[in-house]
Amino acid sequence: MTMNEGRPASLETTTTVHSRLQNKTAQIGVIGLGYVGLPLGLLFARNGFPTTGFDIDQAKVDVLEKGGSYIRHIPGSAVTEQVEKKAFRATANFALLETMDAILICVPTPLDRHREPDLSFVRNTAQDIAPHLRRGQLVVLESTTYPGTTEEVVLPILEQSGLKCPILPYVADGWRVISPAESGGDFLLAFSPEREDPGNTEFQTHQVPKVVGGVNASSAIAAQALYAQAFEKTVVVSSTRAAEMTKILENTYRCVNIALVNELKLLCLRMGIDIWEVIHAASTKPFGFKPFYPGPGLGGHCIPIDPFYLTWKAREYEFPTRFIELAGEINSAMPEHVVASLRDALNARKLCLQGARILILGIAYKKDIDDLRESPSLRIIDLLHDKGAQVDYHDPYFPRLHKMRKYDFGMVAIEPTAEALAAYDAVLIVTDHSSYDYASIVRHARLVVDTRNATKDVREHRDKIVLC
Ligand SMILES: NC(=O)c1ccc[n+]([C@@H]2O[C@H](COP(=O)([O-])OP(=O)(O)OC[C@H]3O[C@@H](n4cnc5c(N)ncnc54)[C@H](O)[C@@H]3O)[C@@H](O)[C@H]2O)c1
Repeated sequence: MTMNEGRPASLETTTTVHSRLQNKTAQIGVIGLGYVGLPLGLLFARNGFPTTGFDIDQAKVDVLEKGGSYIRHIPGSAVTEQVEKKAFRATANFALLETMDAILICVPTPLDRHREPDLSFVRNTAQDIAPHLRRGQLVVLESTTYPGTTEEVVLPILEQSGLKCPILPYVADGWRVISPAESGGDFLLAFSPEREDPGNTEFQTHQVPKVVGGVNASSAIAAQALYAQAFEKTVVVSSTRAAEMTKILENTYRCVNIALVNELKLLCLRMGIDIWEVIHAASTKPFGFKPFYPGPGLGGHCIPIDPFYLTWKAREYEFPTRFIELAGEINSAMPEHVVASLRDALNARKLCLQGARILILGIAYKKDIDDLRESPSLRIIDLLHDKGAQVDYHDPYFPRLHKMRKYDFGMVAIEPTAEALAAYDAVLIVTDHSSYDYASIVRHARLVVDTRNATKDVREHRDKIVLC
């Protein structure tokens, strides 16, 4: 007999979640306190909900419990304030899940070494929840994943508890559930994609509309009621699959458009046209054009990974996702292009890449953030080592490079002083952090290979700059 067997299913529980949300007594649990889960948990705490963050990493829990932060753009004071008000606590004790009214899952969804979806974190989390699941609880998956995950992977694991959440169609018009209004079940299950953009100072988490889709109407309505308490706008779609697909569409759109400008950059380089000048000019069109920028390759937890979740799922339907595959091919070849450009720039100065001293500026996958997951800089370092170059780096956010899943460079950052810059055969700008003084870098370096057009405003010594 399963632990919850025998308890009657009832709609009464759904009403309880709603009233608790409305009077802000609902206990919110966030599982996975990383770049997504921590800001989300703090957002609910700031909005007056007693919030508990769950993580298997005890070190993170300890930092948070002391009112500190391990994510650069989240100041320790933001955590301290909520911990002192007793609005936020962190724990590795998953038995506390039983006391939560809503549980939001924000664990990683990487690709495995065969570049296939690795849902082990999601599965483990669902297995952690199942023994503590109780009637009336709302569970929402936020991790980016392929359409079908909530219903095909999370739901069956949660139902091992003996509680049920029926998959039932409903109609939504984008803003609310139209019909039916309720659908029964013991617990509620929804998907709501996280749209966090680390380092984006223009939009705060609560300003980005929250898309939700439920396994049934009651689940969608409850999830919308939850997010409406903390977000300015909510958008309801007719299923968890539509919500899952929404996130993949957003990231595929970026992945494909970045590939397009990366390919056009290669052509422009051959044609002697400045791609950045062209993008700037095209951006003056007030409609029908959105700028994307070329670079040394894709990075981060999302854009290089999420589209391939869809590619994997599409195989089940014998459907090739050609745009995604082509974009992946172009984007993943960019580090090789950067190294070839550096080699040619050295060659033009009668220098050889083998044995050359190279200083890389910027390791993070994008400017002004402390995240190097999937960063193209790592592949570039690897390629340069293969070619026999002597590589050093600087990044204000990474004083040293710790062992990673794929790479273990054991490198320590070099301070880019005037003397240091002059000592290298070439300085390679991989990430255009705002804190760099690019005019000074160009003044002191012998050769600057710039993958981001970071030196666009530098007027002097342009002969030392190679855009690539
Ligand atoms: N980082 C982003 O910018 C971003 C943006 C949008 C969506 N997402 C998506 O959000 C999800 C989370 O990404 P992230 O960047 O926050 O990841 P992250 O690696 O920063 O954080 C994940 C956290 O989950 C914890 N964790 C792992 N397994 C766990 C388990 N079984 N139980 C409890 N905690 C566990 C880890 O210790 C870690 O603290 C992913 O699906 C990602 O694709 C990320």
